[in-house]
Amino acid sequence: MTSPVTTTAPTSSPSEDHTFPSGFLWGASTAAYQIEGATDEDGRTPSIWDTFSRVPGAVVNGDTGDVACDHYHRMPEDVALMKSLHLNAYRFSVAWPRVRPDAGSLNPKGIDFYKRLVDELLAHEITPWLTLYHWDLPQVLEDAGGWTSRDTAYRFADYALSLHDELGDRVPFWTTMNEPWCSAFLGYTGGQHAPGRQEGVAGLVAAHHLMLGHGLVVDELRRRGTTADLGITLNFTVVDPIDPDDERDRDAARRIDGLFNRVFLEPIFRGHYADDLLADTGHLTWRGRPWQEVVQDGDLDLISTPLDVLGVNYYHPDAVSGHPHDDVLGSAIEHAPRPVRTPFVGCEDVTMPRRGLPVTAMDWEVQPEALTRLLVRLHTDYGVPPMYITENGAAYDDTVGDDGRVHDPDRVDYYDGHLRAAHAAMEAGVDMRGYFAWSLMDNFEWAYGYSKRFGLVHVDYETQARTPKTSALFLADVASTGRLGP
Ligand code: NOJ
Repeated sequence: MTSPVTTTAPTSSPSEDHTFPSGFLWGASTAAYQIEGATDEDGRTPSIWDTFSRVPGAVVNGDTGDVACDHYHRMPEDVALMKSLHLNAYRFSVAWPRVRPDAGSLNPKGIDFYKRLVDELLAHEITPWLTLYHWDLPQVLEDAGGWTSRDTAYRFADYALSLHDELGDRVPFWTTMNEPWCSAFLGYTGGQHAPGRQEGVAGLVAAHHLMLGHGLVVDELRRRGTTADLGITLNFTVVDPIDPDDERDRDAARRIDGLFNRVFLEPIFRGHYADDLLADTGHLTWRGRPWQEVVQDGDLDLISTPLDVLGVNYYHPDAVSGHPHDDVLGSAIEHAPRPVRTPFVGCEDVTMPRRGLPVTAMDWEVQPEALTRLLVRLHTDYGVPPMYITENGAAYDDTVGDDGRVHDPDRVDYYDGHLRAAHAAMEAGVDMRGYFAWSLMDNFEWAYGYSKRFGLVHVDYETQARTPKTSALFLADVASTGRLGP
C-alpha cells in the first residue's frame, strides 16, 4: 500500500530556468453543460444536471445550465478568443444527450455541432482534446438506474464508439471520463451533485461502473486500431494528516487517500482494488449483497487496459484529522445549500481542519508545492503514462473595474505558483506534456451555479460579453513564450 504522506519531492525548482519544452500543450478546459446552454435545441434531451438543477435548494440561486455562456451559439467567437490568448489546445466535453438523446439512436444535429467545433479549432491550429463524459448523463439512463446499473457502462461504450466513428480521425486526444470521483461520490453518496442520491456505498458501485465504461471503451478502441491518444482524467487531492505524529490523523489520511485517489489509481494502473480499501469497506452491502460482488470476472483486466496519457486535475490539498475540530474547511461537504452527506463513505469521523493557508472563493486551500508532490508520486509509485494537467485553476470574487478590466492578481499568483510547481516535477523526472487552465471562461459551477468564477475570461451573463482577465493575459504570455519569468 502506498502511504500518502511519505512521498517527498523538491519543493522548488532546482534551476532558475522555467522554460517548458517545445510542443508543450497550452490550453484551457471547459465542459458541455457548464458553457453550452441551448439545452432544448436541435434534439438534445435532458441530462441529470437539467433535472437536478431544478430540485429546490440543489444549486445556489436556483441557477441552471439552460443558457450558461451560450457557447452553442457563440462557438466561433470563443475559438477566436482562444487563438487571441495564444492557446494551442482546447479541452472540451461532448454532451451525451445531444449526441444520443434517447441513449439509442444518433442525433446528426448534435454531432454536427462538435464537427463544426473541431473544424474551427483545426482551422485555428488549436489541438482539440475531447472528453466523452463530463457528468451529463442522459436522464433516461439515470431513470434506468444510472451509474449504479452495470448496463450504463455498456451504453456509455455505445455512445463513445459511435462518436469516435465520427471524429476519431481528427481529434488526437480522447478522455473517457472526467473526474469519475465526483460523478460517483458527489452524485451517489454525498448528493452534492446530480443525480443527488445519498445512498452510501452506491458511490463505490458507481465508481466501479464508471471505470468499467472507461475500460470497455479503451479496450475496444485499441482493437479498432485508433490513432488517438487515449486516457482518463482523474481529480486528485494531496492528503496530509494534520498531526503526522497522531495515529488517528494518520489513519484518516490513509482512508481519505484510499477513497479519493487510490480507489481509481489502483484498479486502473495496478489492476486491483487496494487491500486496505477492501478491508475498510468489506462490511458494506449493496442491494443485500457485499458491494464487492459488483466486480465481475474480467472487469479489472478491462479497467487496467494500458493508457497513452493520464489527465491530472489538481486544485487543492487536504489536511485531515481523525478528531473533531472547530474550524474546518467547507470544501468537501458543504457544496450545496440543501443537506448533503460526506462523500467519503465510512469516514464520518474525519474532519478537515483549517491550517492557516490562503484559500480561494471555494474555501479551497492554495498550496502549489503539493502539486509537485502529487506528480512525483504518480510517476514514481504508479508509473503512469505521460501526464497532462487537464485542469488547474481557482475561483475568486472578480469584479469589472471602472477601466472595464478585470484585475485578478490572486489568480495570476495561483497560476504562476502551480506552473512553477509543475515545472519542478518535470525537473525531477516527471513526463508532463501540457497544461490546461480551468477554465477558459466563467461558467456554471455545478452546485454553486454562477456564483463562483473560475474563468480566464470574465463573462457578463446579462450581455454575454467576454472580457479577458489579467490572468488570461498572463497565461497568454507564458503560452506564447513557453516560459515563466524569473
Ligand atoms: C473540476 C471539474 O471537472 C469542473 O467541471 C469544475 O468546474 C472544476 N473542477 C472546478 O470546481
